[in-house]
Amino acid sequence: MAEMKCVGVIGAGQMGSGIAQLAATSGLEVWLMDADRDALSRATAAISSSVKRFVSKGLISKEVGDDAMHRLRLTSNLEDLSSADIIVEAIVESEDIKKKLFKDLDGIAKSSAILASNTSSISITRLASATKRPSQVIGMHFMNPPPIMKLVEIIRGADTSEETFIATKALAERFGKTIVCSQDYAGFVVNRILMPMINEAFHTLYTGVATKEDIDSGMKHGTNHPMGPLELADLIGLDVCLSVMKVLHEGLGDSKYAPCPLLVQYVDAGRLGRKRGVGVYDYRKATQKPSPRL
Ligand code: NAI
Repeated sequence: MAEMKCVGVIGAGQMGSGIAQLAATSGLEVWLMDADRDALSRATAAISSSVKRFVSKGLISKEVGDDAMHRLRLTSNLEDLSSADIIVEAIVESEDIKKKLFKDLDGIAKSSAILASNTSSISITRLASATKRPSQVIGMHFMNPPPIMKLVEIIRGADTSEETFIATKALAERFGKTIVCSQDYAGFVVNRILMPMINEAFHTLYTGVATKEDIDSGMKHGTNHPMGPLELADLIGLDVCLSVMKVLHEGLGDSKYAPCPLLVQYVDAGRLGRKRGVGVYDYRKATQKPSPRL
């Protein structure tokens, strides 16, 4: 496969904006698409300030930072992604919505383009089945925040070709990432292990075993995790955590994956975490912790 020159990213939320930033600072042309124009404005501001912090910390040169901002183009028109060599989807974690997008993308993307999903848990094989190019569909699961976290989990669907895998791996390596490979089973590797831990932290809070602060402090200082599970859930987004638990529950068929009622209730109440200013913790208060995004 020819070297990639242009990356399309769909969904300008916390993950898509970070993936677009990585691609732009790696010297690629980038189209960042979102159906919501306000999300595109927020993404530009977030990328611009993050790039400035990378420059001020000496992690990238000023030239690379300036160049990255010029390489980044924003759109709310899916057809603008027709020039992309790979399109990474990072929209809402819903199988129906993602499948519809993959079907539409199949009609728009050039025939050689790879269609990748940043899904946290949804079956790549089923997303691929919405297209006529299942050999070119793959999971490319970045961690949050993508410009900082070192890992990319690559998931092969049932029909993903070796060529698609090699090209996707090469791109992740160009981004400076460490790669792990997973078969296409619910939750893949990282969320299969992480989300039940977060869910158990919610149960611990729900059943009054300890306060949220003590649960997080216990896991940080007792097991050397950089963040407590409830803080991490707020960073990921409680809606994303709930979606992943539902996929694990349904896909693996074991009651141990049933979402904690408290997690369900927080999502019902719109307490989605940092992105809404309130989740397990309230970030609207003056004492709020700084965002971990560089
Ligand atoms: P988010 O809620 O911050 O952003 C999603 C964006 O997608 C929004 O700006 C929304 O306007 C846009 N969108 C929704 N439907 C669309 C459509 N049909 N076409 C175009 N744009 C659309 O979500 P976040 O957290 O960035 O997650 C995105 C994906 O990444 C999900 O699949 C999630 O599971 C996955 N993910 C999330 C992680 C996290 O820590 N939040 C970590 C790794 C993966």
